[in-house]
Amino acid sequence: MAVRAFSSPRRPLRSDAFLLLVLFLVSVSCSTSETQGFCAVGYESDCGLSSEKILIKGGTVVNAHRKEVADVYIEDGIVVSVRPNIKVGDHVKIIDATGKYVMPGGIDPHTHLEMEFMGTVTIDDFFTGQAAALAGGTTMHIDFVIPVNGNLTAGFESYMNKAKKAVMDYGFHMAITKWDEGVSKDMELMVNDHGINSFKFFMAYKGSLMISDELLLQGLQKCKSLGAIAMVHAENGDAVAEGQKRMIDLGITGPEGHALSRPPVLEGEATARAIRLANFVNTPLYVVHVMSIDAMEEIAKARKAGQRVIGEPVASGLILDDSWLWHPDYTTSAKYVMSPPIRTSGHDKALQAALSTGVLQLVGTDHCAFNSTQKALGSEDFRKIPNGVNGIEERMHLIWDKMVESGQMTVTDYVRVTSTECAKVFNIYPRKGAILEGSDADIIILNPNASFKIAAASHHSRSDTNVYEGTTGKGKVEVTISQGRVVYEDGKLKVTPGSGRYIRMPPFGYLFDGIEKADAAYFASLNAPIQRTKSAA
Ligand code: URP
Ligand code: ZN
Ligand code: ZN
Repeated sequence: MAVRAFSSPRRPLRSDAFLLLVLFLVSVSCSTSETQGFCAVGYESDCGLSSEKILIKGGTVVNAHRKEVADVYIEDGIVVSVRPNIKVGDHVKIIDATGKYVMPGGIDPHTHLEMEFMGTVTIDDFFTGQAAALAGGTTMHIDFVIPVNGNLTAGFESYMNKAKKAVMDYGFHMAITKWDEGVSKDMELMVNDHGINSFKFFMAYKGSLMISDELLLQGLQKCKSLGAIAMVHAENGDAVAEGQKRMIDLGITGPEGHALSRPPVLEGEATARAIRLANFVNTPLYVVHVMSIDAMEEIAKARKAGQRVIGEPVASGLILDDSWLWHPDYTTSAKYVMSPPIRTSGHDKALQAALSTGVLQLVGTDHCAFNSTQKALGSEDFRKIPNGVNGIEERMHLIWDKMVESGQMTVTDYVRVTSTECAKVFNIYPRKGAILEGSDADIIILNPNASFKIAAASHHSRSDTNVYEGTTGKGKVEVTISQGRVVYEDGKLKVTPGSGRYIRMPPFGYLFDGIEKADAAYFASLNAPIQRTKSAA
């Protein structure tokens, strides 16, 4: 019997006209990608019809809370049953997963698709970025809406429009770049009407996205009242601007100047400041792209003291070091420019240890890809290099190899940091982040004995470069199932533009449990105001 405890809205049937439009969009948007294994389809086409009934047999099913050898039966986009020896009739696609891991599809909490930034637009849109994600075992991501001239509603509409070609499920965070009554009201609208439950505050990028402490404080208070998670890009933007000037004065104009101008201490300072302000307000805080020991230790200290702080390392910070920024070839070095910067060797290993011990909770990518022509914008001045690296396709493989294959992390913890914790933090668990009866059928099958190799020539991003070029490792996602359909198998993608669904994320997730009680205890402890008698004299 189909269980639909977490049922999702079904897509309405498309009209032929719409299907034609979709196929037209595909021919426009993926013409360069067809050579790399895309097969963009409607429901029935040359690529074949994806089965709506699937039985995954004999694999090790991994959830964050346990693993077991079991079969998984999927019908109509939903997990119907998880148990050994499921029997099915005809017309069911059977996938043998013996000796392989069957896991919830990855959820990437941090991406920037088709984002206008630093005078250009990220090269991957909601088609190519999501196709790349599916090829790498990620079945949902949460992208950052950037307001249009500070206007949240205009920003939301613009991103809903960009996402029309989506091929998998996605949600939105919203950046806050200015403060007034309209922004405050629009935050209510975003949470109550549009399914956004997180807002990001940039403490860096002076002159564009950066906000003041005063705004951060207002924002934290507003987030608390709405049950929305406050997120921070934590770097001291004023000091970064000063550091950049210092490098230029020294004649350092190349990509290495990027790392030198914004050292870890500036990330540590801003992380500490945001944590203290969130503590003052008593609201949960989510620190995006934790890149340094300095920031990680601030998070560790706060969590030890009982504060609700979530730390998100990203694949680049966990895997790479900054030696690339000193590479003599400009194109090679510029592709590693992101903020906060990729740090010196040692920070990567410390972040891995923090992830495996639970000091940091979940892994993102900050997928913000620019091609080499875009990166060339800063060839005379590192301050003009568009900041960002790829990762949406590579994250699941890199984290498996670096953390699980190396023995640093258990398989259940792998599922937790790549999928489940994200679903929990953003309040969409167990619809997402689990293989349980009633969960969405977003599932991957990973072969621990197969290997992967990363190369720009074969990846699905539109970028002509890859920061993990040449990286090899063990553990390969062989099958990706999204919304109950096999979308990646035998190295081939079968994706349907327009099939991606916007996932609404309700406010007041688990991080808000007990906040009111803590506030009440705080007010009770004040022992004030004191009722004083006026003296006669
Ligand atoms: O360099 C980065 N991280 N680019 C994307 C924007 C951001 O700060 O997240
Ligand atoms: Zn950022
Ligand atoms: Zn980002």
